[in-house]
Amino acid sequence: MISKIGVIGSGTMGNGIAQVASRAGFEVTLCDVSDAFLDKALATIGKSLQRDVEKDRLGEREKREIIERITPSVNLGDLARVDFIIEAVTEELLIKTELFKQADRIAEPGVILASNTSSISITKLASATSRPDRFIGMHFMNPVPVMKLVEIIRGAATSDETFAITRDLASKMGKTSVEVNDAPGFVSNRVLMPMINEAAFALYEGVASPKDIDDVMKMGMNHPMGPLELADFIGLDVCLAIMNVLYDGFDDSKYRPCPLLKKYVDAGWLGRKSGRGFYQY
Ligand code: CAA
Repeated sequence: MISKIGVIGSGTMGNGIAQVASRAGFEVTLCDVSDAFLDKALATIGKSLQRDVEKDRLGEREKREIIERITPSVNLGDLARVDFIIEAVTEELLIKTELFKQADRIAEPGVILASNTSSISITKLASATSRPDRFIGMHFMNPVPVMKLVEIIRGAATSDETFAITRDLASKMGKTSVEVNDAPGFVSNRVLMPMINEAAFALYEGVASPKDIDDVMKMGMNHPMGPLELADFIGLDVCLAIMNVLYDGFDDSKYRPCPLLKKYVDAGWLGRKSGRGFYQY
């Protein structure tokens, strides 16, 4: 039975996952490299829960309890006591591989290791551990407390039991899951990123302004955000990295990243997080 969850990485995705897991009643150990990152994560969780307190969907006491069920830690060794581990650190293969090697050494043998990667091969990450059958992709969407979906990705060696336990966990966290086989970009980013990239090409070629491109998709297709606004929300560096995964993974020119996207990333215009992307913030 899973009652304690370890989350590695307390950034946007990690703190969202910790919040949702704790709200569902799980004890959460939230690991990161510094107390400053963890303090920021807990403040973000507090702010996110406060929205629900203000809307009378959560009591002050429940809010406190959700926060108290999250134990921040700068020591990966604390993962020895958890029943399931979800990694949500930066999208870099070497960093993730190194962390999974450590988690593999620390966690009990039966514990499942899950990665929230948005596009790195689950099969490749799993092969860095001694338990590829107990390794899986658990891809949450941003903002995690709001978005219903979790893409559950089976690596080449993921067992049926691992899949079933992970799907059950996602459901207990209040999420709807879809089953996906390991392939570049999975389903979410294989479909989403080419749309964002195409919107960048439309801008690059002077077809329309950013606002008009976004309005087409918002008002014409009922998307909550236009593709360029969404790219700024996700981070242009993340979008570019995912386009490169698709381009390399399929060896197909249809996934060529837009030069404008590359240029903005080179300029440090990464979207909302840097104050400038396709829009100014
Ligand atoms: N925590 C908790 N609740 C939040 C929140 C957060 N961080 N952000 C927004 N909300 C809640 C608000 O409280 C509000 O709740 P109610 O409607 O129940 O009152 C609701 O979400 C809507 O928020 P707002 O009114 O503030 O703003 P909005 O209507 O503009 O919605 C949005 C904001 C939910 C982000 C919406 O614009 C949206 O759905 N955008 C698209 C997001 C998307 O596509 N995400 C996927 C990105 S791709 C990805 O994550 C995967 C990848 O690998 C790149």
